Amino acid sequence: MRKLTYFVAASIDGFIGDESGEAAFFTRFVDQEYLDFLREEYPETLPTHGQRALGLEELPNVRFDTVIQGRASYELALREGVTSPYAQLRQLVASRTLGESPDPAVEIVSADVVGRVRELKAEDGLDIYLCGGSRLAGALRAEIDELVVKSYPVLLGSGMPMLTAEFRLEEFALAGFRSFTNGVVVRTYGREERSIRGTS
Ligand SMILES: NC(=O)c1ccc[n+]([C@@H]2O[C@H](COP(=O)([O-])OP(=O)(O)OC[C@H]3O[C@@H](n4cnc5c(N)ncnc54)[C@H](OP(=O)(O)O)[C@@H]3O)[C@@H](O)[C@H]2O)c1
Repeated sequence: MRKLTYFVAASIDGFIGDESGEAAFFTRFVDQEYLDFLREEYPETLPTHGQRALGLEELPNVRFDTVIQGRASYELALREGVTSPYAQLRQLVASRTLGESPDPAVEIVSADVVGRVRELKAEDGLDIYLCGGSRLAGALRAEIDELVVKSYPVLLGSGMPMLTAEFRLEEFALAGFRSFTNGVVVRTYGREERSIRGTS
């Protein structure tokens, strides 16, 4: 069974962007040390145009071979004229309103997104990258097996939460962490894993 991993960038206080989700202010922390980490461990999580700009498009996928995102997140790419933002991955977009897919490489999931994710998990392959945003992550909350939280050293006070969901306590176990000289900390949490290993 492969995992659904919510790989997400957030502030210290857990917001993934301002109220609208805008988070360009996180990019100032993408320095060489952090980029080397992404290149080695999560190269496929960079959008294809970002990979190309950094000369990383030939790198093989390491952790994921599939990505799922919500329509609002996908629309950010559509607005730039990009219909296949993660061409290196199998792409799914949850939407009840988009109708036909704007790109043959993108599957639209309009009903039973939880059921579709369960089907994907039962297939062979690398893990599934839950890209976000907040509402889709809320809808898929019960299916999240792993969280990789890229914490940037900024405090926002309010903004878009990591999940749009009702209050419910769910325990996760810290499975790994990595800190960077610029203050970014990447923490990995699993529902089951209990072993803790850290590097800095
Ligand atoms: N910091 C990060 O790492 C990160 C990562 C990703 C995204 N973001 C940000 O998150 C923001 C968008 O987040 P968001 O919460 O507004 O939107 P979102 O989760 O990206 O998309 C919400 C849309 O997804 C569809 N959807 C959600 N649940 C569904 C379900 N159960 N079945 C079918 N469709 C479903 C609906 O589309 P329809 O309305 O078409 O039905 C819904 O309106 C963006 O600004 C983006 O920049 C941040």
